[in-house]
Amino acid sequence: MIRKICCIGAGYVGGPTMIVIAENCPDVIINVVDTNPEKIEAWNNKDLSKLPVFEPGLVKLIKRVRNKNLFFTTEIDTSIKNADAIFISVNTPIKSSGVGAGQASDLKWVEASARRIAESATGHTIVIEKSTLPVRTAKVIKEILETKQSFEKSDSKFKTFSVLSNPEFLAEGTAINNLQKPDRVLIGGDNFDSINELKSLYLNWVEEEKIICSNLWSSELTKLTANAFLAQRISSINSISAICEVTGADIKEVAKATGLDSRIGEKFLNAGPGFGGSCFKKDILNLIYLSNYFNLKEVGDYWEQIIKINDWQKKRIYEVIVEKLFGNIADKKILILGFSFKANTNDTRESPSIGISIDLLKENSKLVFHDPKVSPTQIINVLKNEIDSNQFSKNISFSDDIYSASHDADAIIILTEWEEYKMIDWKKISNIMRKPSWVFDTRGIVNVESVRSEKINIWQVGNGFLRN
Ligand code: UDX
Ligand code: ADP
Repeated sequence: MIRKICCIGAGYVGGPTMIVIAENCPDVIINVVDTNPEKIEAWNNKDLSKLPVFEPGLVKLIKRVRNKNLFFTTEIDTSIKNADAIFISVNTPIKSSGVGAGQASDLKWVEASARRIAESATGHTIVIEKSTLPVRTAKVIKEILETKQSFEKSDSKFKTFSVLSNPEFLAEGTAINNLQKPDRVLIGGDNFDSINELKSLYLNWVEEEKIICSNLWSSELTKLTANAFLAQRISSINSISAICEVTGADIKEVAKATGLDSRIGEKFLNAGPGFGGSCFKKDILNLIYLSNYFNLKEVGDYWEQIIKINDWQKKRIYEVIVEKLFGNIADKKILILGFSFKANTNDTRESPSIGISIDLLKENSKLVFHDPKVSPTQIINVLKNEIDSNQFSKNISFSDDIYSASHDADAIIILTEWEEYKMIDWKKISNIMRKPSWVFDTRGIVNVESVRSEKINIWQVGNGFLRN
């Protein structure tokens, strides 16, 4: 029976996942560890507005479990030693150099975790892959763990391992709900007893029919497949949004009528500035790498097109902006509304705002950033390596008030679908923007008539009615 859990990695996956397990399994003691002491300190902060992850519903739960059966600590080795089950929830970004650069996941943090587990674990330990990983990573973990296995029961050094894959399907912004009421829980492995132990943990709050067991490789591949299919829907609808704009069709009407086919379904059909987040691009790149590795070039080419359309969507939106502003944006003031990759998260990884802002800055425009949850420091950290430092300080500013930031602005670009952007008072804005003024609604959340009636020009993704 799993009584003590250690989770390695206190990020967007590890933090919320362990909070929900702690809430539903009050008899299980959970230590969440991280090599980054600042992150652990932030998770332990008494001021709950300073937690490292913003997620609706998170604060309510953490209040109930923190320092009761859930602990955030930098005591990695002791936590590993005491654990019956260890979740690996570390970051796995795409490699920036070497073999597989730009495509394969960098497994150095996974490998470091496995080596540390191999060293410090005692007794029998179930090691669970939680991070999104390339197919067959479990083999790497197994091989590392096996170097330290010792089967001699009488020996104090007795240690054995079983490795399971239990991919995370949570989406940021709805993580707590996804974890509390998952569509399914997938457990992959070849050790029947270990699978059952993990299953028993989930049975504390998940219905049995939603817990699916498979072999390790199916489980790892399912995670990549699920994300690739979701990303594919977004590239599909975004490609159609471009056709809408030139033909006079409207993407919302097309998406609604298409999604009513029960075989297609209505979800994930919102056109936008392209998908962001830490998973979609990485998982598709992993799929492409895997396909090419196994000489399945056509399969790799097929999935590559999803990323190409995603990059193109951002580029074409940037080009529309420049074109509408008379082909010249130098010194023009542009308000960027939203820097997180989607609403209800403070995560900016792969956010479409990044690429679009960089392109605009390269043409010397003056950008004012607003985001309800992303701090100026976070935005600076993301952009500073991409932009010349002189230009950077001259052309970037921040505001937490949309209205004062709109003063003399030539354009407002909505890049994240935050609720408050749906309720902007365009009359107020119209009086203070420089004329001719433009709104670029890349999320399709603005009521077009309420903007136009205030004599502001508007471009909206996939809105062919606006075609001149
Ligand atoms: C995704 C998967 O949904 C989740 O199951 C997996 O565990 C991790 O990756 P996440 O990246 O947190 O989750 O967010 P998601 O809601 O999937 O959105 C990803 C991106 O697609 C965002 O940039 C979002 O704005 C965009 N998107 C989503 C659209 O452009 N249109 C849509 O209709 C839906
Ligand atoms: P994710 O979205 O997958 O949760 P994050 O980057 O938000 O990714 O979190 C991953 C966390 O894992 C980071 O806080 C990082 O410091 C931590 N981490 C990486 N390697 C190790 C390691 N070897 N031991 C402990 N923590 C680690």
